Amino acid sequence: MAQRANYKPRTKRKATESVRTLISSAQIQRRIAELAKEIRRDFPNEPLHLVGVLKGSVFFLTDLARQVGGEISIDFIAVSSYGNDTHTSGEVKLTRDLDSSIEGKTVIVVEDILDTGMTLQYLLRVFDQRKPRRLRVAVLLDKPARRLAKVRADYVGFTIPNEFVVGYGLDYAERYRNLADVGVLTLGTQAKKPA
Ligand code: PRP
Repeated sequence: MAQRANYKPRTKRKATESVRTLISSAQIQRRIAELAKEIRRDFPNEPLHLVGVLKGSVFFLTDLARQVGGEISIDFIAVSSYGNDTHTSGEVKLTRDLDSSIEGKTVIVVEDILDTGMTLQYLLRVFDQRKPRRLRVAVLLDKPARRLAKVRADYVGFTIPNEFVVGYGLDYAERYRNLADVGVLTLGTQAKKPA
């Protein structure tokens, strides 16, 4: 549900997009190594079940899973939010459920970004009912300025300002997910050259 770019292209003007690096790939990887150590320190000898929220979390989850070490299993869930481009109702809908039960497992929900918190609030409610042994949350990016729901993550990679970010899983209209860095996307228009 996350970020919304309020942007209406105008006729006779060409849309422009630019991305300014906010967090480099090296910084991301260093921080993930730290988070992984922290997680293993908290659960030294336990199998950990990482649950990624599609699609944005995929890159973070795969890097984190390889750094944490020990016994790890993974699963994915997908949700969507009701609303349109500029407004979200805050309601979240499950569109793909987990493959396996989380009952009795030590579960770490893995998210690329914690924004309004509506997605996480919904997921924590759903997961809590399924009786995991423990339930924790790891997010790469935390954007507290936009928070609406009273939720927090146990492991946070970076706290970021209220900017529209793309890369390392985060998209704008499904693009930019494959960037190795996280960057701030700027949308603008420029006048089309006369023919
Ligand atoms: C993003 C992100 C989180 C959610 C966070 O997903 O991956 O799941 O939004 O936003 P919130 O805190 O405001 O609820 P998005 O809906 O953009 O889907 P995607 O992961 O497929 O890009």
